[in-house]
Amino acid sequence: MNLQTYLRAGHPGLAVISSEEVRAEAEIASACAALGRSLHAWSSTEGLVDTGEGRVTPCPDPLEALQQLDGLFAADSSSEPQHVVLLRDLQLHLDQSDPMLVRRIKDTLRVAKAHGHAIILLGCRLKLPAELEHEFTHIDFNLPGPEQLGVVLDGIAKSANLKDLPDELREAALQSALGLTTTEAENAFALSVVETSGIDPVVIAREKARTLKRNGLVEVVEASTSLEDIGGLDQLKAWLDRRAGAFSTEARSYGLPAPKGLLIVGIPGTGKSLTAKATAGAFGLPLLRLDMGRVFGGIVGQSEANLRSVIQTAEAIAPCVLWIDEIEKGFSGSQSSGSTDGGTSSRVFGSFLSWMQEKTKAVFVVATANDVSKLPPEFLRKGRFDEMFFVDLPDSRERAAIWDIVIAKYGRKPTDFDTVVLARACEQFTGAEIEAVFIDALHEAFAEGAEPSERKHIVTGIGNTVPLANLMDGQIAALRHWAKGRAREAGASATNPSSAPRRRRIDPRAN
Ligand SMILES: Nc1ncnc2c1ncn2[C@@H]1O[C@H](COP(=O)(O)OP(=O)(O)OP(=O)(O)O)[C@@H](O)[C@H]1O
Ligand SMILES: [Mg+2]
Repeated sequence: MNLQTYLRAGHPGLAVISSEEVRAEAEIASACAALGRSLHAWSSTEGLVDTGEGRVTPCPDPLEALQQLDGLFAADSSSEPQHVVLLRDLQLHLDQSDPMLVRRIKDTLRVAKAHGHAIILLGCRLKLPAELEHEFTHIDFNLPGPEQLGVVLDGIAKSANLKDLPDELREAALQSALGLTTTEAENAFALSVVETSGIDPVVIAREKARTLKRNGLVEVVEASTSLEDIGGLDQLKAWLDRRAGAFSTEARSYGLPAPKGLLIVGIPGTGKSLTAKATAGAFGLPLLRLDMGRVFGGIVGQSEANLRSVIQTAEAIAPCVLWIDEIEKGFSGSQSSGSTDGGTSSRVFGSFLSWMQEKTKAVFVVATANDVSKLPPEFLRKGRFDEMFFVDLPDSRERAAIWDIVIAKYGRKPTDFDTVVLARACEQFTGAEIEAVFIDALHEAFAEGAEPSERKHIVTGIGNTVPLANLMDGQIAALRHWAKGRAREAGASATNPSSAPRRRRIDPRAN
């Protein structure tokens, strides 16, 4: 938070957005101390407190408090220090847009500006009435970084009488806690002490995952998936592979900009979500999953606050991968929103786009989408994502590769099956459908007390399946048409000689 700069620049109204009241207030106090300003704090319970002298003026009503301020601000002589006044919960009094109060605040801001004073609003959700929106400079208060969390960790270690933590362990513990507020981190550290009588990064990471999940917007996903788990999609895998080292310190000193993100568009069941998970594995970064639907909460102003909170969490954990599955569902309201939700979705969507464009922290966004017609065109403009890939139905070589992966995934040997023959038999199938056929075959075989047989169980299963692609012919054609010239093919191009199916050696004893 660049509070000092704003105070020095003479902004009379500042709105600090944070759910960490204690830490934010401490920072406000230290900014005031550094600038030699006197700090006053008002709340309806305590009244107006001069924090330097400890003088309390009881005034539970905000109107009354603002009146007091006028006196304080105007009475000032040039030899006195300038004042900063923190108004706690004032925004809650503004929810009804009380005209008297709004006017009073404007008046106070005018006096403050004339004499170089400032008032600060602090809250986790600052939705000001339109009349005041432009009178205040909004300041995002970032989540604590490793240094600030380090102070909390050392405090806990000391009170638990732990010996000096080895540097490596301390580093790992702080890394695990990034993305939490100081209070949440303190709770996680304390829990680790209770559970393990020490500091255990695994416990802290688990607590972080729980806390974020409870907050309901982003989720930490344990991704053990790697690029090898994806059959086909060679171009996309090669692209990711090339960027795997781009978040390293070497890459930074080389001058490489951190990659921004990737949009994967395509047919359902073709491995888009799988690729998103594998990206985190390939990059060796933590994976956060964002549910865009949840960002659009019910309360007015909540969606903006939600998005801000998501961005803060992701940036605190950075470098990380932020996975937004089926992004079109979250943003689909943004085109028609003027009439349906007072423009909230388009505003939130706009903030998301500008963040995508301007973000400096290493948050790699992997977004997936099935229905491109719901994506607003601005979204697809160059500069948001590094690349846009289109995932088509797998061709026969890709299907063979998927068979290999699926068979191995369920503990069977791919060499026991002729996956080239299987691939030919399941034209138009997606990866998800291939997997479903194999699982069915396992069930059939298990019921018979046997191992799955290629002809008896798998080929029959294929014959009994109508691939989704048959049913959504028109949609797939439209999607292909849309992707032409707009998105890169995720699979190997048809001209690539390596895309011709290779025959596997058939073991005559199999089946
Ligand atoms: N190319 C592939 N290689 C290996 N497995 C695959 C592939 N495609 C799909 N699968 C299997 O199918 C499952 C479902 O795929 P996934 O969820 O990634 O599809 P999707 O493209 O995200 O579909 P949707 O659009 O419905 O969300 C995967 O978990 C994986 O087991
Ligand atoms: Mg998916």
